[in-house]
Amino acid sequence: MDKLRLGVIGAGSVVREIYRHLYFHSDYSHLLSIEAVADPNEKALGEFADQYGIPANRRFDDYHEMIRQVKLDAVQVNTPDQLHREPTVFALENGLDVMVAKPLASSIADAHAMIEAARKAGRLVTVDFHKREDPRIKEVATRYHSGAYGKFQLAVLYMLDKLCVADPNYRPQYFTSPDFCEKNTPITFLTVHMADALVQMVSLKPINVRATAYSQKLPSLRPVPSKGYDMCDVEVLLENGGVAHIVTCWHLPNTAHAMTVQSSRLICTDAMIDLAIDMPGCREMTENGIQERNPLFRNFEPDGSVSGYGIDHPGNLYRKILRSRNNQMSPQERDEMTGPFAMGFYATVICEAAGVSIEKGRSIDGVTRGTEVDIAKLLRQRIGTAADRYM
Ligand SMILES: NC(=O)c1ccc[n+]([C@@H]2O[C@H](COP(=O)([O-])OP(=O)(O)OC[C@H]3O[C@@H](n4cnc5c(N)ncnc54)[C@H](O)[C@@H]3O)[C@@H](O)[C@H]2O)c1
Repeated sequence: MDKLRLGVIGAGSVVREIYRHLYFHSDYSHLLSIEAVADPNEKALGEFADQYGIPANRRFDDYHEMIRQVKLDAVQVNTPDQLHREPTVFALENGLDVMVAKPLASSIADAHAMIEAARKAGRLVTVDFHKREDPRIKEVATRYHSGAYGKFQLAVLYMLDKLCVADPNYRPQYFTSPDFCEKNTPITFLTVHMADALVQMVSLKPINVRATAYSQKLPSLRPVPSKGYDMCDVEVLLENGGVAHIVTCWHLPNTAHAMTVQSSRLICTDAMIDLAIDMPGCREMTENGIQERNPLFRNFEPDGSVSGYGIDHPGNLYRKILRSRNNQMSPQERDEMTGPFAMGFYATVICEAAGVSIEKGRSIDGVTRGTEVDIAKLLRQRIGTAADRYM
């Protein structure tokens, strides 16, 4: 087989911004044949299917029907985080491989169920955490694993969005649902990326999490206030005693030099590493002020193709799925791909633990100081004795 027959489940904003380029205008498009699309939202379904000429009998409002009726090798699940589990498990049970838009799942129970379903079906579930392909993060991971930095001790990782992302008064509104920032937090939206990048760089499991969450700026917005959190600091204790603070927010002034201001500093026994992720070397000065652009993530090429690590990461995952379906994958590579680090399990664990920490916390003047959450205990509460497999 030289192409994967792919079904797309969910055709919302991430498909519009990233995956349609991957499917139709990238160096990986020749590996994929987009056979069908399923989305209960008629508008999202129609826009995608009309643009790319998907015939009427290959458009579904129910992914079960798509999987039953169309011959597929794999599906890509682009539904909201809390709806990743069901389509993934159904696709696996029907013999398909799966790629999920990050994160694996929004809960430990869902992530575990997906990992188990993949194991039972003998198929792959891969997760598109595109930061793993960012050349700067890849380089740090490689050098850390080579031993060049010694032992990990401390890190602070920042991922800070402009207020226009969260402000319900800003037009055009960033999220399709006006109460997105009340139903979600900077943890679910942003921390998850840095949590995954951190564990990929140092390959250490989290053992304890404590979060602090601030709700001061969003409630002050006018005319429409938001009850959401402005900022969260998630402190993660790793299995070697190292500590990381992942600081995320969506209330930076709109004059910030990038939509997402992000950087990290890691201190190890033999090195200090700075990652100026928001300074990729392309700075614009225009009448709108100074803006950093990130051409490393997504590039529109003169020939109409789209490149960048936002495309390479999912593209390389599809290349692996194709190799697996052609029985060209070594058992060792398959083991690596199906381990909890590769599947992004610990990012889900860190985020759920941070949520629990805040829920049980104490608030002073809009600041909730969370309690400590022991990860082994939390895993046992959520998935019973299966917890031992992950710790
Ligand atoms: N790679 C990235 O950096 C990145 C960026 C944004 C979002 N994401 C992830 O992508 C996923 C989707 O996010 P989004 O921003 O596109 O959300 P969205 O709300 O814009 O789109 C989700 C789509 O899924 C559809 N859907 C819901 N239930 C469905 C079902 N049962 N079957 C088929 N379709 C269904 C919705 O109708 C909607 O069109 C989330 O997991 C999100 O975290 C990843």
